[in-house]
Amino acid sequence: MARYLSVAAALAVTGAAVLTPELLLSTVRRTAADPSPDGSVALFSYSQYSFEEHASAGSGMNLIDLKTGDITDSGLNASEINEVVWLPGTETGIIYINGTNEEIPGGVTLWIGDIKSPNTSTLVASLDAPYSGLKVANTSSGDLHFLVNSMAYPNGTAVNPETEVTPASTARYYSDVYVRHWDTWLTKNRYAVFAGALSANNSYALSGAGMRNLNHGINFTATQSETPIQPFGDLSDYDLSPDGSIYAFVSKAPQLNKANYTASYAYVGAFASSEAPVAFNGPDSEAAKAGHKGASGLPSFSWDSSKLAYVQQDEDYYESDRWILYTVDVAVEGSGVAVSNWKSLSAGFDRWVQGPIIWAEGDESIFVTAEDYARVKVFNFPITADESFVPEPLTSNTTVASYAVLPDGSLFVSATAIWTPNEWYILANGTKNTLFDASQVDPNLAGLGAHTVSEFFFNGSNPDLKQQLHSWVIKPSNYKDNVTYPLAFYIHGGPQGSWANGWSNRWNPQVWADQGYIVVAPNPTGSTGFGQYVTDSIQGNWGGWPYEDLVNAWNYVNTSLPCADTVNGIAAGASYGGYMTNWIQANDLGNEFKAIVTHDGISNTQAAWATEELWFIRHDYNGSIWNSDAYAKWNPQNHIANFSTPQFIVHNTKDYRLPESDGISMFNILQGLGIPSRFMNFPDENHWVLKQENSLVWHTEIFNWINHYAKGEPLSDTPVGN
Ligand SMILES: *[C@@H]1O[C@H](CO)[C@@H](O)[C@H](O)[C@H]1NC(C)=O
Ligand SMILES: *[C@@H]1O[C@H](CO)[C@@H](O)[C@H](O)[C@H]1NC(C)=O
Ligand SMILES: *[C@@H]1O[C@H](CO)[C@@H](O)[C@H](O)[C@H]1NC(C)=O
Ligand SMILES: *[C@@H]1O[C@H](CO)[C@@H](O)[C@H](O)[C@H]1NC(C)=O
Ligand SMILES: *[C@@H]1O[C@H](CO)[C@@H](O)[C@H](O)[C@H]1NC(C)=O
Ligand SMILES: *[C@@H]1O[C@H](CO)[C@@H](O)[C@H](O)[C@H]1NC(C)=O
Ligand SMILES: *[C@@H]1O[C@H](CO)[C@@H](O)[C@H](O)[C@H]1NC(C)=O
Ligand SMILES: *[C@@H]1O[C@H](CO)[C@@H](O)[C@H](O)[C@H]1NC(C)=O
Ligand SMILES: *[C@@H]1O[C@H](CO)[C@@H](O)[C@H](O)[C@H]1NC(C)=O
Ligand SMILES: *[C@@H]1O[C@H](CO)[C@@H](O)[C@H](O)[C@H]1NC(C)=O
Ligand SMILES: *[C@@H]1O[C@H](CO)[C@@H](O)[C@H](O)[C@H]1NC(C)=O
Ligand SMILES: *[C@@H]1O[C@H](CO)[C@@H](O)[C@H](O)[C@H]1NC(C)=O
Repeated sequence: MARYLSVAAALAVTGAAVLTPELLLSTVRRTAADPSPDGSVALFSYSQYSFEEHASAGSGMNLIDLKTGDITDSGLNASEINEVVWLPGTETGIIYINGTNEEIPGGVTLWIGDIKSPNTSTLVASLDAPYSGLKVANTSSGDLHFLVNSMAYPNGTAVNPETEVTPASTARYYSDVYVRHWDTWLTKNRYAVFAGALSANNSYALSGAGMRNLNHGINFTATQSETPIQPFGDLSDYDLSPDGSIYAFVSKAPQLNKANYTASYAYVGAFASSEAPVAFNGPDSEAAKAGHKGASGLPSFSWDSSKLAYVQQDEDYYESDRWILYTVDVAVEGSGVAVSNWKSLSAGFDRWVQGPIIWAEGDESIFVTAEDYARVKVFNFPITADESFVPEPLTSNTTVASYAVLPDGSLFVSATAIWTPNEWYILANGTKNTLFDASQVDPNLAGLGAHTVSEFFFNGSNPDLKQQLHSWVIKPSNYKDNVTYPLAFYIHGGPQGSWANGWSNRWNPQVWADQGYIVVAPNPTGSTGFGQYVTDSIQGNWGGWPYEDLVNAWNYVNTSLPCADTVNGIAAGASYGGYMTNWIQANDLGNEFKAIVTHDGISNTQAAWATEELWFIRHDYNGSIWNSDAYAKWNPQNHIANFSTPQFIVHNTKDYRLPESDGISMFNILQGLGIPSRFMNFPDENHWVLKQENSLVWHTEIFNWINHYAKGEPLSDTPVGN
């Protein structure tokens, strides 16, 4: 912590620097900061990696004072504490999960304390499994109700890995599609939400009922109930009403196969009842009859516990449909929950409503975030909003990662930008007061700022598109006006995704620019944040309009961006961006680049049925591999005769959505054709390279490759693992 508290003065001396991969990967990483109930301080965790030690250079939990911006050690021991939650109804009370349970190895414990005296906390509950994702309600009786989640056996018992019995055989055996997902092979176990109560009786104790698995009672014909929804679900998949009486969570449609459908429903149940929770937007519901059948998310109770907000998509096999905001009234009735007055608040807002969803004090309006023109902004919806309502953004230039409403009604925002991993500020009546900006404090990030970043708009290829398309331009930190730099043409994944004004530890555009490139990062057809029509227009059209859009963006750069040397340019992309680099290799645009970099991309669409998310490829390719001609039409490997550009291919073993065979077959073809090419694989990484040591090799070898072909630097002659 002293490591970066003492550097503010040093920065003035060092000035602008170059963001190398080492600096990026060894920069202090911070979580978003979470304000205390009284709004005096916000808590965040940090960690740092050292390439000298090849190990963590430390981690901890700090407080930022929300008046002064001063950062201090919280006194909480991050190596013992897994997560901390503020106690509602107090000023600075906390409840936390301690990762050690002395009575039950592999379990955890709950402790209650106050951030003002962090080492005087009391142990209040011993839990028999490694639960996480704590949410707490302070009830009128004084009892605390809480939700956590854990992996559970089919009989509903939470899995404690310390006592798990390893079967004698390693066989995996399936009778239905969806055998593995993301980076994990499916077993019979599923994640579940568990409820517990701490009864208040001088001190607190886990009530006699112990922990109750809330997903366990849900019957299914195709898909067993699971919350959080894997692999990215987290505690935003469930919520507890502030009075502790009602819980809500989302879980996949029990009657639909997970490989074929994205649909999930919102369930509610009475906390005090053992009755199984009920979905209120499943088949035959008012929502389903009105055509809203897709995935559900972000259940969030109002402060008075009488309303639930959530989001849902319309289509049941499209992951990139629009997320729309809904509310329902909820009330405990008998042993269940009565749900009424279902209504949509954002039908007229052509953006995806994202979290966090936070009710304003008084429950008259709801804050949300949404991606808008390559930024993620905060918006507010009155609960009376109808389909004619279109909100104005409350924030502007950056990517809001998290935010909270403080007791005085102001917003505390944690944001990121291309030039900073953390910008924390208070927004009061439209005035922004920045409390912390990592790029002004961390020595690794010295010199970063908005001055290297600009954007342009270019014509799309879809003749019916009524708007221009967007692209970022990122110049080197030490950019000079009278010098040209090779173009690095940067293609995003998804394809329903975007390059947004946010920080990334992978594909950080400033790191590429600081190798001496002009990074151009276009948002072509298929991108999100520009209206659903732009997103949807990629369906059945993977190598069509998006490719033509990229050609238009390249032409714009060639004619209008003199600092970019397009003769010596390179193209790079991951995931769909990896597919697109393969498609560029197969088409004329490939001739404009000196080298191509492909990370985990499809090279053979005819092999796409080796994925698990069959709904994805079925939607995007207008049908299944046996009944749609889009697979043959947009297959890079159907144009092998056009391959000619040197290509660096990365494909990781634990990427089960896009299996590594796609990278290997592409490499084998290039080698067979005598085209300079290299193949890199990380056996322990999934779709992303997450480990710092692996990421450093990834950056070093890719940069060596592009710097050789774009700038004539020597090529390393000993590829890793060869
Ligand atoms: C934090 O916890 C670790 C692990 O229990 C312990 O080794 C260390 O001494 C603790 N640090 C402080 C400052 O108490
Ligand atoms: C619960 O909230 C009440 C005020 O409503 C407060 O007095 C009490 O201390 C809170 N309980 C805990 C454990 O913080
Ligand atoms: C965590 O639990 C262990 C075992 O009970 C205990 O020794 C340690 O002090 C606890 N740490 C915190 C911060 O509560
Ligand atoms: C709490 O721990 C800190 C060190 O982390 C120590 O300086 C302080 O004296 C402790 N306070 C109490 C009340 O034990
Ligand atoms: C549930 O199944 C697990 C694994 O087979 C077993 O260890 C556990 O005892 C079972 N729980 C109950 C309540 O039967
Ligand atoms: C409260 O605690 C006392 C002492 O531990 C115990 O005898 C009593 O049964 C508890 N009451 C309730 C309602 O749990
Ligand atoms: C689940 O099915 C069992 C057996 O048919 C039935 O008894 C039970 O009521 C069902 N539960 C729900 C929540 O529908
Ligand atoms: C915003 O302005 C209103 C009206 O001037 C004022 O009452 C309120 O306190 C202000 N809020 C904040 C957070 O400054
Ligand atoms: C907004 O972002 C652009 C980069 O597109 C930057 O040049 C500009 O300075 C930013 N504006 C503010 C107010 O930060
Ligand atoms: C972009 O479209 C506009 C409107 O159709 C047209 O006037 C303009 O010439 C186009 N620009 C290019 C570079 O094609
Ligand atoms: C570019 O401009 C700088 C001063 O701005 C000058 O020192 C340098 O010689 C120039 N380089 C070229 C190649 O003209
Ligand atoms: C999944 O969808 C395919 C069409 O792509 C269909 O042929 C198959 O029967 C479906 N399987 C299940 C279990 O729904």
